[in-house]
Amino acid sequence: MNAKRHILITGGAGFIGSHVVRRFVRKYAEYEIVNLDLLTYAGNLANLRDVEHEPNYCFVRGDIGDIELVRSILREHRIDGIIHLAAESHVDRSIRDPFLFARTNVLGTLTLLQAARESWDGAPAGERRFHHVSTDEVYGALTKDEEAFCETTRYNPHSPYSASKAASDHFVRAYHDTYGLPVVLTNCSNNYGPFQFPEKLIPLCIHNICTNKPLPIYGRGENVRDWLHVEDHAEAIDEVFHRGRDGESYNIGGINEWKNIDVVKLLVRLVDEELGRAPGSSEKLITYVTDRAGHDLRYAINAEKLHNELGWSPKHSFESGLRDTVRWYLANEQWMTDVASGAYERYYAEMYGGEI
Ligand code: NAD
Ligand code: TYD
Repeated sequence: MNAKRHILITGGAGFIGSHVVRRFVRKYAEYEIVNLDLLTYAGNLANLRDVEHEPNYCFVRGDIGDIELVRSILREHRIDGIIHLAAESHVDRSIRDPFLFARTNVLGTLTLLQAARESWDGAPAGERRFHHVSTDEVYGALTKDEEAFCETTRYNPHSPYSASKAASDHFVRAYHDTYGLPVVLTNCSNNYGPFQFPEKLIPLCIHNICTNKPLPIYGRGENVRDWLHVEDHAEAIDEVFHRGRDGESYNIGGINEWKNIDVVKLLVRLVDEELGRAPGSSEKLITYVTDRAGHDLRYAINAEKLHNELGWSPKHSFESGLRDTVRWYLANEQWMTDVASGAYERYYAEMYGGEI
C-alpha cells in the first residue's frame, strides 16, 4: 500500500496525458487524481472513458494559465504532486502561431510553478513534487553521426514549439534553484500509440492509408526520429515521479531511430496486411511535399541515466507496438472520424460552455 497522494495531472485528456492518467488511476487506487485540461482541439474526454467513473479520479476543465483556478485546485484537493503535460504540442502549428505556444507552454508552466510554490511554501522536504514533462526537441538537431542527446547536451531549440518547451524547462529549473521548489524533469523522444491526434505522422498516415489519401512526406523523408511507445513513456514518468532525484532531468527514449520514409513504408505494409490489401498497394499514396521550415534532421536519446538509476527500459518493440497501434486505430474508426471532424470540440462546447 502506498501513502495517499493527491496528484494534479495537467493535459490528461490529450495523447500522453490520458495514458498517464489511466496508469495512475488504475495502479494507485489510494491516490486522488485530478485531471486539469482545457480540452483544446487536442484534448478528448473520450480518451478516458474507461476510467472516468473511478472514485479516485476527477476532471476539471480549465486553463493552466488561470492562476486563480490553479490555486483553488491545489487548495481544495490538497495537491501534493503535479505531473505537468498540458501543452501545445505540434511543431507545424507552432510555426503558424508561435504566440499561442508561448502563452500555453511558457506562461502556463510559469503559472503552475508559481501556484505550486505558494501552496507548498513551508511543506516538509520530500513530500511535494512538480514533475515537468518535456521533449528531446529542446536539444535541437543531430547530424547523421553525432552521439545521442544526453541530459547535459546544450539546449539548442529551432522551432517555436521546442523554443517554448526549452523556456518552460528553464523556468522549472529556476524555480528549483531560486525558491527550492521540488522538481524533476523528463525529456522524451517521439511517442506513438493509441489516442494520438491524427495531425502527427503515425496516426495521420494510418488514417490516410485507410481512406486512400496522400501520405505527405516532408522533404526527402530522410529525417530521423527515435520512436517510443506511449505506455513506455507513461511507465518512465511513473518511475521518475516517484523515485527520481530532486532537481534532476532524465532523458526517455526508445533507442529506436527510424527515417520518416521507412516508418511510412512500414505503416503501409502493416495497414495493407490488416486490411487484406495486396502487399505494398498503398505505397502509391506516398507523396513528397515541401519540407517543414527549420526541420530538425535527427533526434536520438541516450536514456542510460534513467536505466542506471531507476532500472527503466522500454518494453514494447517497435514493430509489434506499431502493429498493435494500427489495430487499435482500425478498431476505433469512430474515434478517429470524430476527432478529425471536430465533432468532439462541438460536443464539449455544448457540454461545458464557451468557445474552444
Ligand atoms: P497533446 O497535444 O495530445 O495533448 C495536450 C493536452 O493539453 C490536450 O489535452 C490539450 O487540451 C491540453 N491543453 C492545451 N492547452 C492547455 C491549457 N492552456 N490548459 C490546460 N490544458 C491545455 O500532447 P501530447 O502529445 O500528449 O504531449 C503531452 C506533453 O508531452 C507535452 O508537454 C509535450 O510537449 C510532451 N511530449 C510529447 C511528445 C510526443 O511525441 N507527443 C514527446 C515528448 C514530450
Ligand atoms: P511529428 O509527428 O509532427 O512529430 P515531431 O515534429 O514532433 O517530430 O513529425 C514526425 C516527423 O515526421 C517529423 O520529421 C516531421 C515528419 N512529418 C512528415 O513528413 N509529414 C507529415 O505529414 C507530418 C505530420 C510529419
